[in-house]
Amino acid sequence: MKKLLLKSTFFCCLWTFLPLSGQERIPEVETLLGKMTLEEKIGQLNLLTPGGGVATGAVVSENVEANIKAGQVGGLFGVAGPEKVRLAQEMAVGHTRLKIPLLIGADVIHGYKTTYPIPLGVSSSWDMGLIEEAARMAAVEATADGIMWNFSPMVDIARDPRWGRIAEGAGEDPYLGSAIAQAMVKGYQGQDLKAPNTMLACVKHLALYGAAEAGRDYHSVDMSKIKMFNQYLPPYKAAIDAGVASVMSSFNDIDGVPASGNKWLLTTLLRDRWGFEGFAVSDYTSVNEMVAHGLGDLQAVSSLALKAGLDMDMVGEGFLTTLKKSVEEGKVSEEEITRACRRILEAKYIAGLFDDPYRYLDSDRPKKEILTKENRDLARKLATRSFVLLKNHNQLLPLKKDAKIALVGPLANSRNNMLGTWAPTGNPKWAVTVLEGFQNVAPTASVTHKKGANITDDVDFAKKVNVFGPRVQIDDRPSEVLLQEAVEAAKESDVVVAVVGEATEMSGEAASRTDISIPNSQKKLIRALVATGKPVALILMSGRPLTIPEEFNMPIALLQVWHPGVEAGNAIADVVFGDYNPSGKLTTTWPQNVGQIPIYHSIKNTGRPAPHEKFQK
Ligand code: BGC
Repeated sequence: MKKLLLKSTFFCCLWTFLPLSGQERIPEVETLLGKMTLEEKIGQLNLLTPGGGVATGAVVSENVEANIKAGQVGGLFGVAGPEKVRLAQEMAVGHTRLKIPLLIGADVIHGYKTTYPIPLGVSSSWDMGLIEEAARMAAVEATADGIMWNFSPMVDIARDPRWGRIAEGAGEDPYLGSAIAQAMVKGYQGQDLKAPNTMLACVKHLALYGAAEAGRDYHSVDMSKIKMFNQYLPPYKAAIDAGVASVMSSFNDIDGVPASGNKWLLTTLLRDRWGFEGFAVSDYTSVNEMVAHGLGDLQAVSSLALKAGLDMDMVGEGFLTTLKKSVEEGKVSEEEITRACRRILEAKYIAGLFDDPYRYLDSDRPKKEILTKENRDLARKLATRSFVLLKNHNQLLPLKKDAKIALVGPLANSRNNMLGTWAPTGNPKWAVTVLEGFQNVAPTASVTHKKGANITDDVDFAKKVNVFGPRVQIDDRPSEVLLQEAVEAAKESDVVVAVVGEATEMSGEAASRTDISIPNSQKKLIRALVATGKPVALILMSGRPLTIPEEFNMPIALLQVWHPGVEAGNAIADVVFGDYNPSGKLTTTWPQNVGQIPIYHSIKNTGRPAPHEKFQK
């Protein structure tokens, strides 16, 4: 890493950002630290969310405004738009003694408002240039809305498709995962972090979160160092080598100690061995959650986290409410607090906030730079590159643009399920359905649409999946009626296109499944459609690999499209009608059944079962 060039005037710096190297310090930050009280330093370590916009962890911060004005907040997330961010920034800069600006963060996981495919889909493109370009676009849009810190890339290697968050990463392979981590960091951070359209990236979740036992979200992880270093750690390291500005600790244990309080992880590995110089933030209340791990009360776990090397506490306020007491009792030193505060102030400096706290707040930018035609075109292109043609019986695809088509299935006209998990800044209302895509791309085709089945008939499951909005809408009509309608439409058409699979929130955070097959309601539909003898193309949407041995053995075409994002319908139609020849390749293994999990391509050879050839003597 190259040297950071320094300048003496505090609120003005003309120099280009380059990450810190070695033990160099920024004089302006040191001067500021010299003026700060212990309370002011602790305030910088506190990250809050007023909610209202970003739906994530269960707790939402209270009294945010008063806390900012009292100098007790270092950063915020869940606030967006130049006007709102300006209000928040004014509270910090205008009301606090030292006028320290806030870092404004967000989860921009696969696009800001122009949502592109879920990361597992993006990884299937294997196109690093395009991935970097998409991350760049996301950064331009997010910064236009006042956000300069992104809780992405998520680089957790995942080899258990029961785990819902497999959707958020690049799959099972450390080499590919590392290349994608680097492309995304470059895309978000660009060449100059002070530019108003680049943002600080945050690699997450350090570490090993994707290896939660049995794919149960937030569960323990236990693995050998060999596996860790060879298969799970490389993508985090790659992001750090690419100059990522921050790191988020994970919820899970590593060698029996939760990541957020794990000194081996956050100091020995991250800083001493990998040379990371940015700041480390906890995951949402992960410091507090160490109480449940049995590591003591809030004061104890907060001091454990700080001493381990964690700098910022997301939402839990354990740092804010206990660290001063811990200093008074001699449990942590002021120097440890200064160290964490310094890293956060350095990030603010690097982002140019001390030059101009309002640099990301140009009210003209959102309408010019967000959800533009160019951005939607890029999302469409990336979606087409992410689709994987799993089979194409009798070369059924592509279809002719004047074909007579029965377009059926619960996802064929379902705007609410196009964006995929973790798209809190996107909006389903901007998404193109498959039906609309067919009409746009093949206006001369004759398309009859029928729902054919509910995504699931299980009312309790539907309730859980609908946590962020109506994803599964169980029809008033009996399922037999829905199915019959679709079969009739199929019989009257040349070809059937069935859009089936998972609703958006069937994968993602806290959305693990033990049964990863296509839900029964839809399996019945698929069987009935194939039984008509008409050629059938299945368009399969999901946030994870599914177990589909039955469907895979049917004489059908099978196109895996993940959750394709805001341009879903247009991109699917581009491929179905042959405007783009599908080129995506899987990045994670699809098991035949859950009993095979974990299953991945880079298994180690063993001596048994005996190979077909004779053993060499
Ligand atoms: C997730 C993180 C996310 C954070 C903030 C947590 O629940 O695990 O990935 O960045 O919330 O929204």
